[in-house]
Amino acid sequence: MNTTSELVALTAGVKAFVGQPHEALIDGRWQPARSGKTFEIYDPSSEDVIAHAADCGKEDVNLAVSAARKAFDTGPWSRMTPSERGKILWRIGDLIEANLEEFAQLEALDNGKPIAVARAADVPLAAEMFRYMAGWATKIEGNTIPLSVPYTPDAQYHAFTRKEPIGVVAQIIPWNFPLLMAAWKLAPVLATGCTVVLKPAEETPLSALRLARVCMEAGLPPGVLNVVTGFGESCGAPLAAHPGVDKVAFTGSTEVGRLIVKAAAHDLKKVTLELGGKSPNIVLDDADVEAAIQGAASAIFFNHGQCCCAGSRLFVQEKIYDQVAEGVTRFAASLRLGPGLSPGTQMGPLVSQTQFERVNGFLTSAREQGAKVATGNASSRTFKGGFFVEPTVIENTNDSMRVYQEEIFGPVVTVSRFKDVDDELIRRANDTVYGLAAGIWTRDISRAHRIGNRLRTGTVWVNCYNIFDASLPFGGYKQSGWGREMGHEVLRNYLETKSVCMSI
Ligand code: NAI
Ligand code: MG
Repeated sequence: MNTTSELVALTAGVKAFVGQPHEALIDGRWQPARSGKTFEIYDPSSEDVIAHAADCGKEDVNLAVSAARKAFDTGPWSRMTPSERGKILWRIGDLIEANLEEFAQLEALDNGKPIAVARAADVPLAAEMFRYMAGWATKIEGNTIPLSVPYTPDAQYHAFTRKEPIGVVAQIIPWNFPLLMAAWKLAPVLATGCTVVLKPAEETPLSALRLARVCMEAGLPPGVLNVVTGFGESCGAPLAAHPGVDKVAFTGSTEVGRLIVKAAAHDLKKVTLELGGKSPNIVLDDADVEAAIQGAASAIFFNHGQCCCAGSRLFVQEKIYDQVAEGVTRFAASLRLGPGLSPGTQMGPLVSQTQFERVNGFLTSAREQGAKVATGNASSRTFKGGFFVEPTVIENTNDSMRVYQEEIFGPVVTVSRFKDVDDELIRRANDTVYGLAAGIWTRDISRAHRIGNRLRTGTVWVNCYNIFDASLPFGGYKQSGWGREMGHEVLRNYLETKSVCMSI
């Protein structure tokens, strides 16, 4: 197996930032948890403790929600013009870009993702998300609507809709793209004029805390963005259930998604959810085989498979099955594993001990259920420490195996053979509780459209995979979620429509 271990030198800014106490941001002030408690932050490449963060609980959540409410009801934010909001968002984008290396290093250190990927994708995409939403701040418009009220034949009306911010929003995000998930959530919510309490994942709070500093530096008034760090049950749950919160936007596991819905049910808060996936990636027998092999491998091994839209079920048409399965296996074996901070790393560790154990549990179950594990040494602890799992290709599965049915969230792909497209493939591709994304590899544009139209997924990539843009909506059918991230569609998540009817 290939490995690499030489690390980039941390910038002075990163060293200073990581070394300081990490507090919550409430009403524009950094403060420790009321309880005084902190929790440890690990580098998943080495398992070393690198920092401590405030272990916020219910009391901190209460203060953060009150601050967000005050800022929404009475603060300068509520009096700002959309253009002024847009300028702040643009400045946030500029500041992310100006601090690109620092953000990339924090992501690599805290999450374990390859620094080269963080530099090229996570950080620039986060900056672009704020810039894209900066433009929308001035374009949130209602309509004028001609009325035909049957019981007032002689009356005339001037009727119109206003799009108003929904209020105080709780945003709970995961650890797989810590900065980007914060950007996907914060940029639109700020464009609409809402106020926020953000809870980053306990595994990876550093870049969101750094981003909060950037937001303040860009001129966001106190209380508009509050950040509480802490665990799901003790910090996320009271936030999701808080009566002062108007809306919860969540990204994470489908299991916790259900808990969020329950927590919000009491006072019928609005909820949007971006949840799990088990996305089919389909290679048809007329595909450019080399491109499909590369694409299929990247679709699953990107971010170590820790992507909600990972192409985790690879379907290959009979005629080219052996060639593609072999190619993906070869690609898997060629990937260089290493610490996030090593410039040569193509795949880093999983984010935590829990994820490491979860993924290994899936590999054990695959073996027990009789699948062929074509590469990957299940629980390979390649380095002195770190939660490394080798890229793994699994063949000879059947459609009822756990590895085929459940979201693994690791660098593990099942490869299945299919014969017939119309009945067999479409049925199997859609035979999952999830519906987040799908890939199709073919040279036949008409087959691509026809198959794509029948897939019950929020995204279809044709001859590409994992292509994201701030302008392109992303989200799930079925149990993959409610609502969409990005594009102008995401603004709906944070707006109410007010109809105004005036007799004239
Ligand atoms: P999780 O859903 O528990 O964590 C995501 C966020 O939710 C974190 O900020 C966490 O603190 C918070 N959270 C946890 N319990 C909560 C509760 N009761 N109320 C409010 N917030 C709560 O995900 P976890 O445990 O880290 O990963 C488990 C599995 O979830 C993964 O193996 C993967 O299958 C899936 N997942 C999916 C993601 C996606 O992007 N859709 C991201 C992360 C995980
Ligand atoms: Mg969890």
